[in-house]
Amino acid sequence: MFDFTEQVVVIAGGRSGINRGIAEAFATAGARVAVFSRDQSKVDATVKALQELGAKACGFSADVRDSEAVQSGLQNIAAQWGAFDVLVSGAAGNFPALAGDMSSNAFKSVVDIDLNGSFNVLHHAYPLLNKPGASVINISAPQAFVAMLGQSHVCAAKAGVDMLTRSLALEWGGEGIRVNSIVPGPIENTEGMKRLATNEKMKELTRQSVPLKRLGRAQDIANACLFLSSEWATYISGVVLPVDGAWSLAGASGLNAVMETTLRS
Ligand code: HXC
Ligand code: NAP
Repeated sequence: MFDFTEQVVVIAGGRSGINRGIAEAFATAGARVAVFSRDQSKVDATVKALQELGAKACGFSADVRDSEAVQSGLQNIAAQWGAFDVLVSGAAGNFPALAGDMSSNAFKSVVDIDLNGSFNVLHHAYPLLNKPGASVINISAPQAFVAMLGQSHVCAAKAGVDMLTRSLALEWGGEGIRVNSIVPGPIENTEGMKRLATNEKMKELTRQSVPLKRLGRAQDIANACLFLSSEWATYISGVVLPVDGAWSLAGASGLNAVMETTLRS
């Protein structure tokens, strides 16, 4: 449906889960796809899988908290393939822990990966983006606007990510760069879901708390990414788009029923 032939797509955190689903969708739509995360051997396996889909693909390892490693990895991709048409920033960390029980370093580690790491990715990609025309997408979470038990670190970090989206949409709009957030709901078969819904009962509770009565699929998020980066969305910027079956509208009660089971039982 969408044609991204020869466009350069870079995905932070692209070796697994939702971000990998996004990488596969762009690869299938003809793009050249670069992925990076911390683990080189896992990045290599993902690159191979993308190549098997018929795409040009490459990758590198970098921790998004390491500003210099991110910069040099991104510069190498641009030297090889040219300016980036699409940048997806989706590297993140999460674990359920009540604020009173977690250390300062635990809180900091998630804020450093999700928020400061996103800044590093966006900041170093900025000079390498195709201007005009680039699409930048931050992967957020419902915790950005729905308070959730055991998720104070993620709530704070992802709220920051969405304000980064809005700020950069303002700052970079004049150069023809669009910046949006996508907010996935609970997505099946992902690390994020496994960490919050640790057994079948909790998975079912989560499913029931979604107004559309199903868990999301990585493809649901990839579809939104392709649309937002396509010619059909060239006037959309600064948007925080939930793709969550209306899960966030179910409010704290739906989400927190699940977390209550995890953290206070
Ligand atoms: C309390 C914990 C903890 C836990 C780690 N810590 N796990 N505290 N409960 N379960 C503490 C550690 O004790 C340490 O504090 C600090 O956090 C840093 O831990 P490290 O293991 O040294 O950090 P690091 O190796 O950098 O790993 C980062 C991580 C890890 C976030 C802790 O889990 C990770 O790498 N995650 C990446 C994959 C991931 O989380 N994917 C899911 C994304 S889903 P001290 O004080 O001991 O030094 C998502 C949203 C999902 O983001 C939304 C679903 C709806
Ligand atoms: P995931 O598979 O664990 O994805 C996270 C990715 O980020 C991994 O590829 C991981 O690879 C990479 N990463 C983690 N820490 C990193 C770091 N410090 N530096 C570089 N890369 C790092 O989890 P997921 O559930 O699919 O989540 C993907 C995105 O969707 C995240 O932004 C998450 O917040 C968001 N989200 C998920 C859900 C859900 O239901 N799963 C819901 C809402 C939002 P390495 O470990 O190899 O580094």
